[in-house]
Amino acid sequence: MIKSKDLIEENGQKNISSSEILGKILFPGYEIQKKVKQLGNKITIDYANKDLIIVCILKGAVIFLTDLIKHIDLPFIIDFMSISSYGFNITDSGLVKITKDLDENIEGKHVLIVEDIIDTGLTLSYMIRNLRVREPASIEICTLIDRAVRRIAKIDIKYSGFKLEEKYAVGYGLDYKQKYRNLESIYELKTDTIKKDIESLKSTLNK
Ligand code: IMP
Ligand code: MG
Repeated sequence: MIKSKDLIEENGQKNISSSEILGKILFPGYEIQKKVKQLGNKITIDYANKDLIIVCILKGAVIFLTDLIKHIDLPFIIDFMSISSYGFNITDSGLVKITKDLDENIEGKHVLIVEDIIDTGLTLSYMIRNLRVREPASIEICTLIDRAVRRIAKIDIKYSGFKLEEKYAVGYGLDYKQKYRNLESIYELKTDTIKKDIESLKSTLNK
């Protein structure tokens, strides 16, 4: 993993491309590790003697998952699910597609969904509805970041690491155009980068 310290020290030199994109540190690596340990300890207590299956949402939650499970002192199964969404209106009409379904049968099991960040909540609410049909004993959510300000679908979050306002977060699994997932800390995306993206989107739409 790239340490946040390296990025700061090499700012403007070796990692010039990153420093043009990454702004301030929102959550430093050591704080993330502390929080992840707390969450793992809590989950260990809550799921003692329960048939637990941890469902990781690809790809963003992978880094969080690998750290989190080291602090869950229980026997459990890990499975993965991937969803792709199209445009702005996520409905049942096929705008959300499961691109990788679970390998495991979750009937009668306690499902814990591990997610990187919950924003509008639309992806997760689709996923929960889809999983409920399979009759698990319970479904709970563990997210590293909760950005409640933009929430559209109501989601009950049992385990949450950090709260975030409007900022777009990058690092520790969270991507910007599929990159920067390997950063140890979580950074804010520079406003200039967002502005440039909006401008280029506008010009594409006007063509
Ligand atoms: P939602 O359906 O709006 O809740 O979308 C949640 C998904 O969008 C997350 O699982 C992330 O993959 C992605 N996402 C939302 N906000 C951010 C962010 O700030 N950084 C990186 N990915 C994000
Ligand atoms: Mg995600």
